[in-house]
Amino acid sequence: MSKVTKVVLGVSGASGACYAVRTLQLLMAAGIEVDLIYSSAARRVLFEEMGLRLEDDPEILLQGQVAEAKLRLWPNEDIGAPPASGTAIGDVVMLVPCSLSTIGAIAHGSAANLIERAAQVALKEGKQLLLVPRESPLSKLHLDCLSRLAWAGATVLPASPGFYQRPQTIEELVDQVCGKILNRCGIDQQCLPAWDGGIGLSAQAAEKEGGDVGKANPS
Ligand SMILES: Cc1cc2nc3c(=O)[nH]c(=O)nc-3n(C[C@H](O)[C@H](O)[C@H](O)COP(=O)(O)O)c2cc1C
Repeated sequence: MSKVTKVVLGVSGASGACYAVRTLQLLMAAGIEVDLIYSSAARRVLFEEMGLRLEDDPEILLQGQVAEAKLRLWPNEDIGAPPASGTAIGDVVMLVPCSLSTIGAIAHGSAANLIERAAQVALKEGKQLLLVPRESPLSKLHLDCLSRLAWAGATVLPASPGFYQRPQTIEELVDQVCGKILNRCGIDQQCLPAWDGGIGLSAQAAEKEGGDVGKANPS
């Protein structure tokens, strides 16, 4: 049973709206209560990338999935909403995806909107702050801000899936990043299988038995 019961999910305007949607779906499936906040840029990107018009109904992001826990939407401008306070912030604040604009603001102590404020509260209260930046290439300024945030205690988990488990679809790539996000928070998930040693293991076994190493590799 996961110890995390409540999460703030901030969505900013980086590319990768699918990561936000899938993370929310996984959190709901895990029965985690979610306070959702999105920036105006995130709303634009959600529409550009997924054709989703997220107005006042956060359940649009669930795309038909039943919400297994409380899901509340707070306006990014509402600096007095519960995620602005250490008394109500829950266990984890995650920004998925996180624009480098928001990274820069948080790295310099800004709390000018609810997403930034929730991030600052997580840092000051010693709660987990998990940032999923998406930008390429990264400038020295970007790297400096990310480094400052890691120094301050945030987890920087770039939206960069690996390929060693041979993903076949975009959904598998997305699941890999989102599974890692949940893993890092100690929330049970089934979408990122643990690495089992891969082809190298079976190739070694074949070698021991005098077989052809090349043939052990699936195509
Ligand atoms: C279609 C689209 C894609 C974008 N992709 C990125 C991105 O990958 N990374 C990033 O840092 N900003 C990206 N931006 C720019 C941000 O949305 C912009 O910096 C915005 O001011 C961020 O505001 P926010 O941090 O309040 O969400 C993108 C914008 C648009 C419209």
